[in-house]
Amino acid sequence: MKISVVGTGYVGLVSGTCFAETGVNVACVDIDQKKIDNLNNGIIPIYEPGLEDIYKKNVEKGRLEFTTNLAESIKDADSVFIAVGTPPDEDGSADLKYVLGVAREIGKSMDHYLVVVTKSTVPVGTSMKVKQAISEELEKRGENIPFDVASNPEFLKEGSAVADFLKPDRIVIGTESKQAQKVMKRLYKPFLLNGHPILFMDITSSEMTKYAANSMLATKISFINDIANLCEIVGADVDNVRKGIGSDARIGNKFIYPGTGYGGSCFPKDVQALIRTADEHNYSLEILKAVESVNYRQKEVLFTKLNKRFNGDLKGKKFAMWGLAFKPKTDDMREAPSLVIIERLLNAGASVVAYDPVAMEEANRILGDKISYAKDEYEALIDADALILVTEWSEFRLPNFRVLEKLLNNKIIFDGRNIYDPEELEELGFEYYAIGRSKN
Ligand code: UDX
Repeated sequence: MKISVVGTGYVGLVSGTCFAETGVNVACVDIDQKKIDNLNNGIIPIYEPGLEDIYKKNVEKGRLEFTTNLAESIKDADSVFIAVGTPPDEDGSADLKYVLGVAREIGKSMDHYLVVVTKSTVPVGTSMKVKQAISEELEKRGENIPFDVASNPEFLKEGSAVADFLKPDRIVIGTESKQAQKVMKRLYKPFLLNGHPILFMDITSSEMTKYAANSMLATKISFINDIANLCEIVGADVDNVRKGIGSDARIGNKFIYPGTGYGGSCFPKDVQALIRTADEHNYSLEILKAVESVNYRQKEVLFTKLNKRFNGDLKGKKFAMWGLAFKPKTDDMREAPSLVIIERLLNAGASVVAYDPVAMEEANRILGDKISYAKDEYEALIDADALILVTEWSEFRLPNFRVLEKLLNNKIIFDGRNIYDPEELEELGFEYYAIGRSKN
């Protein structure tokens, strides 16, 4: 089989590379010549565990190629996946100009039956717009080439995208065409040897599934963050409550870890987009509106604790920050809670020395010299007035507290991810502030 994947961003690159892994010939397409040149020279634009290995292997095998020529890439393809960006436009809704631009390009050059699959996260109704754009272009050419559109949302997590793609929980395909279903089944079968399902449904339900999944996950996080804040007020420990509720299989123990609020490129954007879709149809998604405002508030929680501890006098103080990325195993800083905390600290006249195992370059690109960057986690602590842990990288989990004690000016830790044991830290003489744990 042969496919074309348009867009070599995070989704397109991971999808294209993983498809090649099953023996399919994949052409990854992008309009950015520099990106394509880099990919042809072994330079991958994103950090994702496992990606480099399978990228190298499949390029060597000749199954994975990179090009700017979309028309050429679909010549003898069975299917073309649209995986280009949908950045928010001025009013916050997804800008579809890239998705529809690709659809038009396809319509301009296709010469045989194709399944055109939308993989980018797009508002409900977009696949129909893709269909229309292709039809219009074919009409302009006076051609009547058959094609089908399908919606195939991705559920990849940054940091484990390759593993998620190779072993998905489910594949969702929105299309009512039997021919398109057959092509999708063939392509995805190698990934479903674990018995997990491929779910065929109508296009609108498929588009909706993506938003509903991310919104449900965001809801779990805001819920536990809200409960955590109440735990503090009433003197409960949210870590006990989390375990207590998580052992009920109906609730489940995943995605109920309190913290400094969710970030990243998906949850904030998708929650907002679904609220907007509902508003446009004169329906108000009350729960999601609360999910969003709780998350907004949660990003302030750590700073509020810190400000209170130092009696509102942060001027001239220096803080060590461990972790900058919005979550571990990624260099992604989009909507990262660290950015909010840093901004508040700088506005209050404090300075920040940060360390992140992977995201320093990205942070530097965004923050420049507004903060300092340490070469390792211990260097960040030198003469700092407290440690603020924002991202729960595994290497921060068991630090040498004796060294911490020596390097820090004060034995104070603000833990935005509840990764330390309050009793142990108390015994070691640290002042420990966490999220939703009693004695805070
Ligand atoms: C998410 C979805 O998981 C994925 O299915 C979708 O395709 C894209 O969006 P991702 O953005 O990579 O993936 O991040 P994820 O691992 O889901 O975490 C999102 C945010 O929630 C992070 O900021 C994380 O720290 C936070 N989180 C997660 C919590 O605060 N508590 C939890 O219990 C879980």
